[in-house]
Amino acid sequence: MICKTIVEGTTKVLVPVPPLDAAFPPSAAPVFYNPEMEFNRDINVAATAAFVKRLLSRKDILREEIRYVDAFSASGIRGLRIAGEVGIHSTMNDWSPEAFEMIKENIKINGLEEKTFATHRNANVLLHEQKFHIVDIDPFGTPSPFLDAASASVWSMLSVTATDTAPLCGAHLNSGIRKYAAVPLNTEYHSEMGLRVLLGACARELAKHEKGMIPLLSHVTRHYIRTYLEIIPGAKNVSRTLKSMGFSIHCPKCGFRGPVYGLAVHIDRKCPMCESLTQIAGPLWLGPFRELEFCNEVISELEAHPLNTKDKAKKLITFCRDELDIPMFYDQHVICKELGASATGIETLIEAIRADGFEASRTHFSGTSFRTDAPITEIKKIIRKLSE
Ligand SMILES: C[S@@+](CC[C@H](N)C(=O)[O-])C[C@H]1O[C@@H](n2cnc3c(N)ncnc32)[C@H](O)[C@@H]1O
Ligand SMILES: [Zn+2]
Repeated sequence: MICKTIVEGTTKVLVPVPPLDAAFPPSAAPVFYNPEMEFNRDINVAATAAFVKRLLSRKDILREEIRYVDAFSASGIRGLRIAGEVGIHSTMNDWSPEAFEMIKENIKINGLEEKTFATHRNANVLLHEQKFHIVDIDPFGTPSPFLDAASASVWSMLSVTATDTAPLCGAHLNSGIRKYAAVPLNTEYHSEMGLRVLLGACARELAKHEKGMIPLLSHVTRHYIRTYLEIIPGAKNVSRTLKSMGFSIHCPKCGFRGPVYGLAVHIDRKCPMCESLTQIAGPLWLGPFRELEFCNEVISELEAHPLNTKDKAKKLITFCRDELDIPMFYDQHVICKELGASATGIETLIEAIRADGFEASRTHFSGTSFRTDAPITEIKKIIRKLSE
């Protein structure tokens, strides 16, 4: 295997050199390394550093006691960055023999022998056998086969990447239903649908292990979903967590959408606006997908660390922070198309909605989209007026 050294943050890592063939996917290399995920890993450094500060402020744990696991480590880059750039102990695991050798080599290169441990196991076995404060799962495709073991293992924070956006977002409907036991809808807000299906699945897996959750930060970035969940143990906290579960109604005729909270609910299938037959998605997570204060803490950590994607990451987290907690965004272009109206700048539209006495915000999911508590009929009136 021909290798080269790359640097992310302050961590140097040996990774395989991909063949010159542009069609060669990173997953075909003997050891996986995807340079496009540096952005995800930079945010991971900042989010984990912010969470570690929170853990330490509770004063019942010392930095040296905190255990992080990168359960699908490949070259070791994710876990090495946590050991070197956040300064906590990190276990890096991969079942591939080539990856295991490369992790050990990369530990040496960074002089992180004291702060790390390399393991060579099936991630599910490792996570059922050992407990970690922070469990990070970053597998190929769906995390669904690993959520049970990750939920059993985790004490404090569960970080999950999902790259199976087509099943999660409703584009591969049956695959999504099989993996997540939830029915998604492939609407203009399919990316948010995917995140809420994933969060719902995490909440239910954690519940089996008597653990509740609070999403601290979640983002959907092109081909993947990433979320950081604080774990709140105890049956009462699980009951509180499950209150954020429910279903989402969507009217394909008029664009009405709305949440229905609960796991066993009566749903009137008629649209409350136009009486057409609605579609139903769920069960889903309907609660907030990020905590405002945590976003601020992550932004401070992004400032404090030398990161190549710092500016882009700060922009994304600021967008996440400033979104309203109202599920299922609207896309101005979809409404304009239906009305035959022309679109205005998104900020102008948001100001017009606010001027009519409603709440409105942008969303990190899409540049042409917005969130609001205004009913669809009012949104259409405003868009029509702006287009005149
Ligand atoms: C997407 S890559 C991990 C990328 C890495 N976290 C990063 O940021 O560069 C997935 C890795 O998981 C390993 N893997 C897949 N299934 C596994 C399992 N059940 N147990 C342990 N490792 C597994 C693969 O060998 C591969 O190296
Ligand atoms: Zn309707």
